[in-house]
Amino acid sequence: MPPITHTSELSSTVHYETRGDVAVIRLTNPPVNGLGDTLRTGLAAGIAAAATDDAVRAVTLVGEGKGFCGGADLRQFGTPAATAQPTVSEVLQQIRDLAKPVVAAIHGFALGGGYELALVCSHRIAHRDATIGLPEVDVGLLPGAGGTQRLPRLIGTDAALELIQNGTTVPAPRAAELGMIDACVDDDVLDAALAYLDDTGVAGAQPRLDDLPPPAAGDADFAAARRRVRPSTRNGVAQLAAIDCVEAATQLPIEEGLPLERASFLRLLESTEAKALRHTFFAEKQAAKVLDIDRSVQPRPVERIAVIGAGTMGTGIAMAFANSGLAVDLIEQDRAALERGIELVQRNYEATAAKRRLDAVQVEQRLALITPSLDLDVVAQADLVVEAVFEDMAVKKDVFAKLDAIAKPGAVLASNTSRLDIDELARSVSRPRDVIGLHFFSPAHVMKLLEVVRGESTADDVIATSMAVARLINKVPVLSKVCEGFIGNRMLTPYRREADFLLEEGMTPERVDRALETFGLAMGPFRMSDLAGLDIGWAARKRLAPTRDTSLRYSRVADVLCEAGRFGQKTGAGYYRYAEDSRKPVADPVVEQIIRQCAEEDGVERREITDAEIVDRCMLALVNEGARILGDGVAQRASDIDVVYIDGYGFPAYRGGPMYYAETLGLAEVLRRIQTFEAAHGAYWAPAPLLEQRVAEGKESFD
Ligand code: NAI
Repeated sequence: MPPITHTSELSSTVHYETRGDVAVIRLTNPPVNGLGDTLRTGLAAGIAAAATDDAVRAVTLVGEGKGFCGGADLRQFGTPAATAQPTVSEVLQQIRDLAKPVVAAIHGFALGGGYELALVCSHRIAHRDATIGLPEVDVGLLPGAGGTQRLPRLIGTDAALELIQNGTTVPAPRAAELGMIDACVDDDVLDAALAYLDDTGVAGAQPRLDDLPPPAAGDADFAAARRRVRPSTRNGVAQLAAIDCVEAATQLPIEEGLPLERASFLRLLESTEAKALRHTFFAEKQAAKVLDIDRSVQPRPVERIAVIGAGTMGTGIAMAFANSGLAVDLIEQDRAALERGIELVQRNYEATAAKRRLDAVQVEQRLALITPSLDLDVVAQADLVVEAVFEDMAVKKDVFAKLDAIAKPGAVLASNTSRLDIDELARSVSRPRDVIGLHFFSPAHVMKLLEVVRGESTADDVIATSMAVARLINKVPVLSKVCEGFIGNRMLTPYRREADFLLEEGMTPERVDRALETFGLAMGPFRMSDLAGLDIGWAARKRLAPTRDTSLRYSRVADVLCEAGRFGQKTGAGYYRYAEDSRKPVADPVVEQIIRQCAEEDGVERREITDAEIVDRCMLALVNEGARILGDGVAQRASDIDVVYIDGYGFPAYRGGPMYYAETLGLAEVLRRIQTFEAAHGAYWAPAPLLEQRVAEGKESFD
């Protein structure tokens, strides 16, 4: 590499140096070199300097730190800095108009606006390990800095449409095959870029994408692409807008396509969906941060895991660890259950391989990481033990007593209990500080949420370890304190209660499910109950029966279904009927009869109910309980509750979670509706004190 002949700081985030006759502009805006105001100013100054310096023949853009550029600086969203001049479009235009070659030297990543920056350069080279693409639709946006116009010109309309519509990011070797970059290299990218400029002898003005006429539509089928968009997906609106822009690229000269794309981007930016998706994006990142633990607390090292119980959850949890390369002992007491569990793991991996998401070698590697065992003594090797045996306190205490005797000192002892008291469990062992709840969701190798339940004695470094392990296995951890049902299932109780009340008041399971699925939930309450199994809730209700306030209304529908052996899909019948081996719910007249009978016994008058009321009754029940959870300090922040519902319960991300949804309705309006329900349906609807307090303070958010 030629030595540095000149160096200067153009702004707090851009460094400029010349090496021989090449100007090197370095982006230094950690963590992702986002295109914030200082970076834009510096970049503009760098291009201007290169333009006027006759000794400079070419320019290379390179990123400092983890990657080239991750696009917009999300931290500045909504602040004046985001729109301060020069804008991204202005800087890109300046690069485009420079009459000297500009090479984007990409390492790590060039994503979103970062790849759009590369697209406006005359050449792009990337390190083999880099990830490249335009994933804007994931946050409800579209590429707004030329991506939808330039990528079709670079790689053809069909391929560009596919990548942009789906927000697909690709590894550099694939990007090279597609033509998204000119070369994929193994060496330092700056070295490679300088060598590239020498080897190819590029000089002077380069042919620019912007000079090309609109690309042919070719094989791109825009109508088919639009049909593939499901309005209920988290980014349906953004996908449709992105398809429109790519289609426009095939019809309009670039100087007309760019403003059209920009206008579309700005419309999306202001859309409720995109705002909610941005909220979701930040909420997931924030959730992993524990507010009251000192930053100096170090997680304990975790290499070997033991999972106890090879049932539905234990097998999924073992896979979740193996999928991230961690060795797991899967321990059972029952040989037949262990064999069934291992077969289930095998079948799952084979199904993934059949979809070509894993190859045969990967399947073997993952299976090899899971060691089945009938001997609890192997727990002695584990740094982290996850108990997933029957949901029964006596059984769990028995297992924990044995763990106490066998596990090595410092091992984290976790329970996957859905609702049992972690503190009671912790008190039953000699090392309560090591005990924590790790509540996975079913199927545990798929669902992103992990509720991390801290007991009153849980050590800080056990919490830190749990958060770190969660991220290691690509889960989104949310911290909860101990209470009945923790965050998610505690909120589910009033939600399910309202759903059952609605049945008695005149609705059918299909009507309620349809209304909530149209609202955006992945699955309505009754389909979800049938899938999860009605017996789980039944056991919890029986356990809590002695403390239930009998002066309050109670629906017997679920109990009567369970008494009739209708536990949901697993017994072929629950709120719906299921044909053998089918997951398709079919309305069942028997259920209708049970509902009518329960309504009659309870003296509930049946009436017609609107979809809007169904949604309000169920959603505001979630919101009110969420506000109590926040008020009680069980959840750290409102957005954590949103994450629980989005990543664990199929709440639509484009509505931002229940608490964010309430904020979009307006807290005063939410309180008013809850008070109306209280007047009509009684004390269950007493507004959460925190909600009342926020409204009294005139606040628009829960935090
Ligand atoms: P399951 O009944 O499918 O599996 C439990 C397994 O534990 C059985 O295979 C049983 O043989 C084994 N087992 C029982 N005692 C044992 C012992 N002493 N040593 C070793 N193995 C033992 O139950 P599932 O559904 O997997 O639930 C396990 C735990 O996960 C429960 O606490 C449950 O509440 C919780 N959970 C369940 C969810 C679900 O959707 N099924 C979701 C989240 C948590």
